[in-house]
Amino acid sequence: MEEILQIANLRTYFFRRFKPTIKAVDGVSYKVKKGETIALVGESGCGKTISALSILRLNPPTSTIVEGQVKWLGHDILKVPDEEICRIRGKDIAMIFQNPLSSLNPLMTIGRQISETFQTHHCLCGKDSWNEAKRMLNLVAVPDVESKMTAYPFQLSGGMRQRVMVAMALSCDPKLMIADEPTTALDVTTQAQILSLICTANREAGRATILVTHDLGIVARYADTVNIMYAGHIVESAGCMDIYHTPLHPYTEALLKSVPRIDKIGGNELIPIPGYPPLLDRLGPGCPFEARCTRRTTKCLKEMPPIEEVSENHYAACWHI
Ligand SMILES: Nc1ncnc2c1ncn2[C@@H]1O[C@H](COP(=O)(O)OP(=O)(O)O)[C@@H](O)[C@H]1O
Ligand SMILES: [Mg+2]
Repeated sequence: MEEILQIANLRTYFFRRFKPTIKAVDGVSYKVKKGETIALVGESGCGKTISALSILRLNPPTSTIVEGQVKWLGHDILKVPDEEICRIRGKDIAMIFQNPLSSLNPLMTIGRQISETFQTHHCLCGKDSWNEAKRMLNLVAVPDVESKMTAYPFQLSGGMRQRVMVAMALSCDPKLMIADEPTTALDVTTQAQILSLICTANREAGRATILVTHDLGIVARYADTVNIMYAGHIVESAGCMDIYHTPLHPYTEALLKSVPRIDKIGGNELIPIPGYPPLLDRLGPGCPFEARCTRRTTKCLKEMPPIEEVSENHYAACWHI
C-alpha cells in the first residue's frame, strides 16, 4: 500500500539554560500507509505527544526539532513554508487533542466553531456550513443537535466535548487523523464509544489514523500496526497480532503483563513494571530501559541498541532478542 507519511530520525529537544537538555523525542522513525491505523503506545512522559505535535510543527515553542524528516506525500513538512503548513493542518492532517476544553474556543458556540471549519476548508457559505455542522454532530451521535449547536463548550459534558472535537476533525475530511489520547479523560463506556466512532469513521473513509495512547489494552481492536515508545525512542514496531502474541522487546512484554487480558482463561496475574521511566534529561549512552530490564547486561549500559527487523515487518531495539 502507498505510504503517505514517512517520519525519519525525528528528534525534538527542550534546550534549557544551565540545565541538561530534555530529549523528548530522540530518533523516532515510522511510516503510515494510506488507510492504516497506527497506534503509538507508551507510558506517560515518553514523548508521544511531542512526537505527534512535531509532525505538524505544533511542538511547544520552548522545544526545537533538531533533526529529522517528516515527509507528507513526498514533501518534507519540516521544510515547507508557513503558508503550506497551515494548509496541511486541518485539511490534510487533522489532530484531536487530549483535552477538548483547552482546544475549543470558550467564547464561540459549538455550531459556529464547526461551521467555521466548513467555511475555511470547503468554502461553504453561512447557511450551508451551519447545516453541514448539524450533519456532523448527528454523525458523531450527539443527542439533541439543535440545542447543542447554540451551546458553549462549558455547557457540555467531557464526552460531548470530545465528540465535538471528533466532529470538527472529521469535517475537515483529512487524509490522516492524529488522535492524541482522545479518551483518556473520559469514563470507560464513553471511551469505547468515542474510539469506535473515530476508528470506524476513518476506516470507512479510507483515512489513516495515528492513535496515541498509554493503554496497550485499547489498541488491540483498532490498530493495524503498533509502535511501542519508551523514553523518546520507538523500541518495538509490528503488526497488532505480532505485538500481542509474540512480543520481542522486554518492555513490550512487561507492558502486556501489566494490562488485564480477557482472552486468558481464568484471567492473568497483573505484574507491574518495577521502577520508574527514566528522566529524559538524564539518559546515559545505553538502552533507556536497562534499569528496569530483566535481560540487562553490561552491553546494555554502554550502547543503545539500534532498531532492527527481527522477523518480517517486526522491528525491535534490544541486544538480547
Ligand atoms: N512544555 C514542556 N517543557 C519542558 N519539557 C517538556 C514539556 N512538555 C513535555 N516535556 C518533556 O517531554 C517529555 C515527553 O512529553 P510528552 O510528549 O508530553 O509525553 P507523553 O505524551 O508521552 O505523556 C516529558 O517527559 C517531559 O520531560
Ligand atoms: Mg501525551
